[in-house]
Amino acid sequence: MAIQRGGFSTRLGFILAAAGSAVGLGNIWKFPFEVGEGGGAAFVVMYLVFCFVLCFPVMVAEIAIGRKTQRNAVGAFTALGHKKWSIIGYLGLTSGVLILSFYNVVAAWAFGYFIDIVMGNFSVGAEAFGGFVSDWVKVGSYTIIFMVATAYVVSHGIAGGIERAAKILMPTLFVMIIALIFYSLTLPNAMEGLKFYLVPDFSEITGTVVYAALGQAFFSLSLGMGALITYGSYVNRKENIVSSAAQITLMDVGVAVLAGFMIFPFVFSQGIETDGGAGLIFMTLPGVFQSLGPILGVVVGAFFFLLLSFAAFTSTISLLEVPTAYMVDEHEVPRSKATWIVAAIIFLVGIPSLLSAGAVDALTGFIQLPGKESAISFMDFAGLIASDTFLPLGGFMIAVFTAYVWRKENFNAEIAHGDESIKGSWLQTYVDFAISYICPVLLGAIFIVTVLDNFLGIKIINILLG
Ligand code: TRP
Repeated sequence: MAIQRGGFSTRLGFILAAAGSAVGLGNIWKFPFEVGEGGGAAFVVMYLVFCFVLCFPVMVAEIAIGRKTQRNAVGAFTALGHKKWSIIGYLGLTSGVLILSFYNVVAAWAFGYFIDIVMGNFSVGAEAFGGFVSDWVKVGSYTIIFMVATAYVVSHGIAGGIERAAKILMPTLFVMIIALIFYSLTLPNAMEGLKFYLVPDFSEITGTVVYAALGQAFFSLSLGMGALITYGSYVNRKENIVSSAAQITLMDVGVAVLAGFMIFPFVFSQGIETDGGAGLIFMTLPGVFQSLGPILGVVVGAFFFLLLSFAAFTSTISLLEVPTAYMVDEHEVPRSKATWIVAAIIFLVGIPSLLSAGAVDALTGFIQLPGKESAISFMDFAGLIASDTFLPLGGFMIAVFTAYVWRKENFNAEIAHGDESIKGSWLQTYVDFAISYICPVLLGAIFIVTVLDNFLGIKIINILLG
C-alpha cells in the first residue's frame, strides 16, 4: 500500500499551518462571545489555565502520535498496534464533521459581511444581524462558496495547498488585529471594556463557565479530534515536537487574547450587552467601521471581514483534512475524489445549522435541555455536543491512550526523536507528568460535570461552590 501522502516542506510551514488551523473563528468570533457570556475576566483566566495546563500536553501527544505513525486520526491507533483505540479516531471524525458543518455557516456570515461592506452596506446592530443570518438563501450560497474553496485547497494536498495559504494569511491577520486594537483603545468607554475583560470576578464562575472554558480551549487549539494527529503525520521526524506545540499554543492564545482587547472596548463604546452570544462581533464591529466614515469605514471594515474569512479558511481546511486523510489512507480513495465527497456530505449535515439562525423556527428553538434556561438552536446544540462535550472527551482518551496504552517510554522516545536536548527539560518533564495524571483526572472529571450539567440538569459545580 504505497500511497503518496505528501508532507510539509518546512518546519515553519507546519507551524503556520497548525497555527492557521488553531487561529480562526474560535479566537475572533467565539472567544469574545464566550467571555461575554461567561462573565468576563474570570472566564479568560480559566481559559488560559486550561490551554497551558491541560491542552498543551494533549497537543504534544497528538502530534507525536501522528508523526510516529504517519497516519490519519483513525489509522494512527491501528498502526501503533491498538486497533480498538481507533474509536478515538472515529469519535474525532464525528466531531470534525459536526464542527465543520456549522463552522462553515459562521464563516459564510463573515464572508457575507465582507461582501455587504464592500457594497457600502453596514449591518449595524442586533436587528440587522438577525435579518442577515435568517436569510438562508444568501447565507447558504456563501456557505457553498466557502466549502468549495476549502475543498479546492485540500484537494491540492499539503505543501502546495495548505502550507502556501497559511504562510501568507496568518501574518496579515495579526497586523490587522493590532491596528484595530490601537483604534479601539481610543474610543469612549474603552476602559470599561478593558475592566470587564481584565479584572476577574470569581463569583461569576459556575459549572457552565468551567466547561465552556474547557470546550473553548480545545476548540480554539483544534484539539481532541485528531486534527493535529493528521497534521503531525505530515511532519518530518527531525523536528522538535514540544517546542512546535508551544509555539502553536502561544500564537493561538495570543490571537484570542488580542481579539478580546480589540472587541470589548468596541462593545462598551457602543453600549451593547456583552452577552450578545454568537452575534457579538457581527453586531458591534460594523457600527465601529461605519463611524470611521464612508471611505475609511468601507476599507477597514471590508479588510477586517476578509481577514476573518481567511482565518476561518485555514481552519476549515484543517477540519476537512481530517476526514479526507482518513479516506485517502484507510480506503485508498484518491485525494481529490475523497475531498469532494466529504465536503458534499458535510455541507448536507450543515443544512439544519444554516436554517437554525431564524429561518426555521423548529430549528432556531431546537431543543430545551434540562440544564439550560431556554431552548437552544440546532447550531448551538451541535456546538455543545461537538466542541464542549466530544473534544474534551477525545482529549481525555488521547491522554489515557498515550500514557497507559501506547506507554510513556514510547511517547517520550518519539518526543526526543529529532531533538535529544528535550530530554529532562522542564517542559518535557511537565508534559510527561500531565499526560499521565493531570489530564486524565481533570478532563475526565470535567467531562462528567458537562454531561450531568447539560443533559441532566444536575449542577455539580454550583452545588460545590454553594
Ligand atoms: N481552532 C479553530 C478555531 O479556533 C477551529 C478548528 C479548526 C478546530 N480545526 C479544528 C476545532 C479541529 C476543533 C478541532 O477557529
